[in-house]
Amino acid sequence: MNMMQGAISLYSTDSCMTDIEQTDYIRLEENMENIWNAAGQDMEIPSTEPQRQYYFIDKAKKYLEKMSEAAGRPLTFCVTTFGCQMNARDSEKLVGILEQIGYVEEPEEEKADFVIYNTCTVRENANQRVYGRLGQLGRIKKKNPHMMIALCGCMMQEPEVVEKLKKSYRFVDLIFGTHNIFKFAELLATRMESGRTVIDIWKDTDKIVEDLPVERKYSFKSGVNIMFGCNNFCSYCIVPYVRGRERSRDPKAIIREIERLVADGVVEVMLLGQNVNSYGKTLDHPITFAELLKEIEKIDGLERIRFMTSHPKDLSDELIRVMAESKKICRHLHLPVQSGSTRILKMMNRRYTKEGYLDLVNRIKDAIPDISLTTDIIVGFPGETEEDFQETLDVVRKVRYDSAFTFIYSKRTGTPAAVMENQVPEDVVKDRFNRLLQEVQDISAEVCAVHEGTVQTVLVESVNDHDSSLVTGRLSNNLLVHFPGDASMIGKFYPVLLKECRGFYYIGELIK
Ligand code: SAH
Ligand code: SF4
Ligand code: F3S
Repeated sequence: MNMMQGAISLYSTDSCMTDIEQTDYIRLEENMENIWNAAGQDMEIPSTEPQRQYYFIDKAKKYLEKMSEAAGRPLTFCVTTFGCQMNARDSEKLVGILEQIGYVEEPEEEKADFVIYNTCTVRENANQRVYGRLGQLGRIKKKNPHMMIALCGCMMQEPEVVEKLKKSYRFVDLIFGTHNIFKFAELLATRMESGRTVIDIWKDTDKIVEDLPVERKYSFKSGVNIMFGCNNFCSYCIVPYVRGRERSRDPKAIIREIERLVADGVVEVMLLGQNVNSYGKTLDHPITFAELLKEIEKIDGLERIRFMTSHPKDLSDELIRVMAESKKICRHLHLPVQSGSTRILKMMNRRYTKEGYLDLVNRIKDAIPDISLTTDIIVGFPGETEEDFQETLDVVRKVRYDSAFTFIYSKRTGTPAAVMENQVPEDVVKDRFNRLLQEVQDISAEVCAVHEGTVQTVLVESVNDHDSSLVTGRLSNNLLVHFPGDASMIGKFYPVLLKECRGFYYIGELIK
């Protein structure tokens, strides 16, 4: 066991800790015995996962029952997710555990007894939002000292963040990272028993813990992790540092999870990974992403398959062929270009050229003519000139994306780009950003409108937020359509006439 001086000890050799000196943080290892003794039982704590976590779910449940009795009501939780779909899926895992423990969901953060922020750190403004909201939460907690606050996710993997929290946000009860999220029940039980702050951050892991509880946000669709981490080290990006090395899940575990989801009413899955096209390379019995897709396609009752994100450098002809032949893989590909300038792409360490990307797009469009393409673009990468930027506009005009997420470059400490010379002045970046946005929006309005007047199969997702006489559904190509309907239609497929395109969405009519 890997005991370290100070606050926290950890259980497995692939774990490590933040450098905590304060003695008022809890020694997890010693504390386990206390928890155990408090329960008055003499069974050993399981050492294998997920059994160990089920043991702690049970333990936390007993503490929560006592706390609820004292409060005279059920206790509530609110999980807020920042960042990408990976984080959204992680939050569903947190909710699954919280509900098993017996917490009840409370949509309003200020009213919840236990607030959890699952954080993102991909750009600086993501961090600022968390600190801002945390300050507000601290004021609420002052009035309600029984409130518990947990922070987890990508931001927690940055040592400076944890230092800052320890110094200036001492009211936070529980802090853990991306690699040990599976340990949530164990950490929570420790916090409940000790009443003291618990911090547990691992630097990396090769562990994948299967079969923990998970509570889906939607009954009819679900994200499914197929891999974790990233090995690409694009020079601007912090994700490989906070999500660790790439590791793929066993294909059998993925298929088993999807079969269970389908048995539980799911008709659409979104396969998740930072670079799905390199899926399977590190497995003992390597398989390709295209082969995995073919296996998933065979699952009876599953109607739609989506995936993200695809790195252009690893997108194979085999994948294009499998997509073209598939009846279930949706007609949508998110293919982040980041920049149109080969010179900038090289500095970004993206490992493709402008010409290579455009050639790939042409091959995809030739094989799958009705494909909808979307992308991510960064403006203001260090050293980007007006000519480089014009190359990006040229790619946007040539590819004609259905939509594009455009980002202003954000300097992330510890990445190679953060120390590159020629950081672009803010006013220049803003001007380029506005010009890019205009171009992207004009083109996407034209591209999206091409389906006007056609009948498409739509999966209804929700009752419309603004007008309850309408429902909102999604086409295979990921566009949204609003049309008259009611809640009974949610999770089912309908043929819908796309009457009018309004920029990024359609107004439609059900075909009876
Ligand atoms: N794995 C995915 C991207 C994950 S991050 C891929 O490779 O495509 C999502 C997007 O955030 C990236 O595509 C990129 O456009 C943007 N991004 C990442 N780091 C950034 C930074 N430092 N500044 C601005 N945008 C960034
Ligand atoms: Fe970041 Fe690049 Fe990995 Fe995507 S592929 S997560 S942009 S390092
Ligand atoms: Fe953000 Fe982490 Fe996703 S940094 S974009 S939540 S992988």
